[in-house]
Amino acid sequence: MAPGLVDTVADRTVDQKVEQVIAETPQGVYKEAFAQSAHSTNYEAELKGSAKHSPAKYPHYLPYWEDTTYPPLEPFEAVEHGKDAHPSFPNLLADATLKDITANCGAEVRGIQLSKLNNAGKDELALLVAQKKVVAFRDQDFADLPIQEALEFAEYYGPSHIHHASGAPKGFPRVHLVHRSANDTTAQDFFSERTNSITWHTDVSFEMQPPGTTFLYLLDGPPAGGDTLFANCAEAYRRLSPAFQERLHGLKAVHSGHEQAINARARNSVVRREPISSVHPIVRTHPVTGEKALYVNAQFTRRIVGFKKEESDYLLKFLYDHIALGADLQARVKWEKGTVVVWDNRVTAHTAILDWQDGHRRHLARLTPQAERPYETPFKV
Ligand SMILES: [Fe+2]
Repeated sequence: MAPGLVDTVADRTVDQKVEQVIAETPQGVYKEAFAQSAHSTNYEAELKGSAKHSPAKYPHYLPYWEDTTYPPLEPFEAVEHGKDAHPSFPNLLADATLKDITANCGAEVRGIQLSKLNNAGKDELALLVAQKKVVAFRDQDFADLPIQEALEFAEYYGPSHIHHASGAPKGFPRVHLVHRSANDTTAQDFFSERTNSITWHTDVSFEMQPPGTTFLYLLDGPPAGGDTLFANCAEAYRRLSPAFQERLHGLKAVHSGHEQAINARARNSVVRREPISSVHPIVRTHPVTGEKALYVNAQFTRRIVGFKKEESDYLLKFLYDHIALGADLQARVKWEKGTVVVWDNRVTAHTAILDWQDGHRRHLARLTPQAERPYETPFKV
């Protein structure tokens, strides 16, 4: 089945009905361990530093919450550059060293400067990341490039997503920031109510055309901790029995951005675009590798279309646990100065880890090109 840019009438009817239920009665297990807003950012301490900590290394990347409203995202025809890539990666890896992080997920690459890649190298990057699921590139200059240049690099892969509830560097609303001030103490508050900070998800899966090849780079981080866990959701699909895989095919689920927006409004933060929900297949096919991958996550997936709530909750919980407990299909990426992590949001899930002591800044920037509308191809044994 070819990916469509526009809902079929049947999809849209279901979507609107379920969307209304979700908007009126938020559901699911949405959890915020990293709530950010203008109120949680101490600009003076971040800009000037204090007796306890140094100023932000990249002050032009500090988040600001503009009171601007953006229109709904527009459908577009996605171009998949991984399809044009040379399978032996001559432009990307000829002078580089690549080391797998685990047997089933992730790699680490040294010896190549991403910002210097030609278009053939960029195509190879999309293919490599689709195959490895997540690749940590070390010793990169991304953080020191003009922000516009970094954005243009990422937009080779698709138009940037503008997050509906995120802060952004001044003048660059298309950059998504992950930032906790050095003097932020909310980790202690969080753990007074929750036992862990794990929030497995794929980014903004509630959008009609969620991101594919995605970039996150370190600006400033704690001396230890704040790692990111990734799961290979294609391997998670392959682990299931053929009978179970076959049952999942054809099922679709509603993904909702409403809870994230509700939380942002509840802490007096900004919602820059009205949230939506979208219906996506539970098993999606990667446009380059043809791999099938589980495409559900506890943060944004709310309901299996056509199932009663208890039935939907039961099956979704199994799938969430299957991914979260699969330490044998995951990789833990450690951040270093100069690290750019590139992952394929179509075939992975990830979670940040809030484990470092209060008093250390954690500051990263994400570039988020959108990709095709998720689609599935028929089940095959
Ligand atoms: Fe994320």
